[in-house]
Amino acid sequence: MSVILSVENLKKYFPVEQTFLDRLLGRRKEYVKAVDGVSFEIKRGETLALVGESGCGKTTTGRLVVRLLKPTGGKIVFDGIDITFTKESELRKWFRRKAQIIFQDPYASLNPKMKIGEAIEDPLLIHFGDKLSKKERKEEVLKIMSKVGLVPPEYFYDRYPHELSGGQRQRAVIARALVLRPEFIVADEPTSSLDVSIRAQILKLLQTLKEEFKLTFLFITHDLATAYYIADRIAVMYLGRIVEVGDAKKVILNPAHIYTRALFSAVPLPDPKLNRSRSKIKIRSEPPNPINIPSGCRFHPRCPYAEERCRRQNPPLIKIDEKHFTACWLYS
Ligand SMILES: Nc1ncnc2c1ncn2[C@@H]1O[C@H](COP(=O)(O)OP(=O)(O)OP(=O)(O)O)[C@@H](O)[C@H]1O
Ligand SMILES: [Mg+2]
Repeated sequence: MSVILSVENLKKYFPVEQTFLDRLLGRRKEYVKAVDGVSFEIKRGETLALVGESGCGKTTTGRLVVRLLKPTGGKIVFDGIDITFTKESELRKWFRRKAQIIFQDPYASLNPKMKIGEAIEDPLLIHFGDKLSKKERKEEVLKIMSKVGLVPPEYFYDRYPHELSGGQRQRAVIARALVLRPEFIVADEPTSSLDVSIRAQILKLLQTLKEEFKLTFLFITHDLATAYYIADRIAVMYLGRIVEVGDAKKVILNPAHIYTRALFSAVPLPDPKLNRSRSKIKIRSEPPNPINIPSGCRFHPRCPYAEERCRRQNPPLIKIDEKHFTACWLYS
């Protein structure tokens, strides 16, 4: 399988707003290091889940790789082409069609004054303009609406977002993302705003669409059961870095990093037998601060096994086996 996306030492630092007093006193400008040296690859047809606590940098990573944000540093290569700092006008020519992002809240993603059909048609208008007739565009829209389960499509075409249920709205957002036939999709918690009863349906739909349209996913979630269901591989983020990455089943059933073990032991898995076999681990709950990142291993202040080396040196991703890596000195 070929690599569709490769990310190397990716960084995004957001400047912290300075107050008048900060400037008057000449205080040093501070940065939120939301993404601070992230590297990974996604192969064509694969789903990589990105998991981790709130604020660890998942959404920022997702927005960077589809270039809704400009990186502070590092490298993003899509389909063999370096797009790290490519201008918007250039991205429009090809990349914007190939890569799409789906956000958590379908209501916020849809213009309340636009009919569902028009919203889904919009990307076609932007990218193809007059090359497609009104009739051809509508045909495309109706086709993709049926694929995402908005049936009958003619009925949903003329509805407004407020007339749809949460699940139907997310189907519409998915249709809009798919109408340009992209190859790569960042799905940022696409089911977490939905009722539990609807979540499984939408996940199943995404799996079906993935097969049919040969999609590749970066799937952002903090829900372990979702990651277990959807992902081929899982990357665990902590304070702007990946601390563990590997085969989904391996990472979930045999997490290596102390952080992953703590994160996962708090979450029940659907299978009670698996639950019993997992080790329970507790970490100190000092809230991590992305402005003042600890020296060495950034997890060390919370780690019950931290040694001197952990305080001084940042661990690289260390190989546990062919398909499993962790950034922890305990494995060196
Ligand atoms: N535009 C921005 N300006 C300043 N800081 C930002 C901006 N976007 C994100 N951040 C900060 O960057 C850090 C990472 O945020 P991000 O949204 O990527 O986290 P996340 O892992 O997606 O969290 P959640 O699970 O809550 O969605 C946070 O500290 C956040 O406050
Ligand atoms: Mg987020």
